[in-house]
Amino acid sequence: MDTVLVTGGAGYIGSHAVLALRAAGRAAVVLDDLSTGDRKLVPADVPLIVGDIADGEQTASLLHDYHIGTVMHFAGSIIVPESVADPLKYYRNNTAASRNLIETCIKAGVGHFIFSSTAAIYGNPPTRIVTEQTPTAPISPYGWSKLMTEQMLADVAAAHPAFRYIALRYFNVAGADPDGRAGQVTPNATHLIKLACETALGRREALNIFGSDYPTPDGTCIRDYIHVSDLADAHICALDHLEKGGDSLVLNCGYGRGYSVRQVAEAVDRAAGKPLRKLEAPRRAGDPIELVADSTRLRDLLGWHPRLDDLDLIVRHALEWEERKGVPVQIPACFRALAI
Ligand code: UD1
Repeated sequence: MDTVLVTGGAGYIGSHAVLALRAAGRAAVVLDDLSTGDRKLVPADVPLIVGDIADGEQTASLLHDYHIGTVMHFAGSIIVPESVADPLKYYRNNTAASRNLIETCIKAGVGHFIFSSTAAIYGNPPTRIVTEQTPTAPISPYGWSKLMTEQMLADVAAAHPAFRYIALRYFNVAGADPDGRAGQVTPNATHLIKLACETALGRREALNIFGSDYPTPDGTCIRDYIHVSDLADAHICALDHLEKGGDSLVLNCGYGRGYSVRQVAEAVDRAAGKPLRKLEAPRRAGDPIELVADSTRLRDLLGWHPRLDDLDLIVRHALEWEERKGVPVQIPACFRALAI
């Protein structure tokens, strides 16, 4: 079996994918520039190459040296409001860098590509539940930067029959590895659950509720929060599909039910055993009102079975990770072998 290259494997979602690959008995190599990732999230027995995915020469030798058959491409910038303020950063880090990476893969004959896309490509969808057929209409440069990469992949796959890809459209990824080996480390993270946990632990004065006048039952935005380890498993399903000769696919990744900002804050209250201080704040730029996935295709076409579909569990894992200040639990080598 070929080795899998994980770009952004020292980051939040990529590091969980590395854990899932190891659990599946697969060899992985991480390429990460460590701009937002953290080397301590990469297991000691997984090679970490510090570098830029847009550097074709370095990536080409890596693909060759490690006999890479599949690239899982996580590296990128992910903060919606930042993309509104600095769009060119997003078109460089997400769109232009992905173009270079895809080109390097084509030249090197890498046949499988799994791409971290996003629900942000749907913008404010016309229906409550979003299927992959829902028209794409991003309302942030972040969403556009990812949609452009999806388009490149579709065009490249049409032009090169030996190249197949799966674009996974993530809804709101949250939680942390249930065994404490990885979690959210992104500096200046803006994720609701992370910020709510930091507030519960007294590291922030209060949690801002960005907008309480949205047309939703409690006036706050609704999202489909998916446990990061279930999402990592979806990547293993995608890898199996491509390696068995399956077609290129675009798939939503979520559980198919939404929670409001207030409901999430209440879940954090429950996990922390005390209410956190909440402040009503103005709406945040670029926020869609409601995003909930129809993930039927992910379940039916890839055989994905989520194990951690429970908001209280997601919040508990996130809170445990924050309590340890993002220091991963080290599993001794003898147990690590058993875990694989
Ligand atoms: C997230 C992801 C994005 C992904 C998208 C898909 C992050 C940083 N962004 O964006 O990559 O593509 O989901 O749907 O994970 N909120 C507050 N107070 C806070 C923080 C957030 O009220 O302190 C609200 C936001 O306004 C929003 C909701 O909580 O309504 C979720 O926000 P956030 O966790 O930042 O994720 P998204 O912006 O939805």
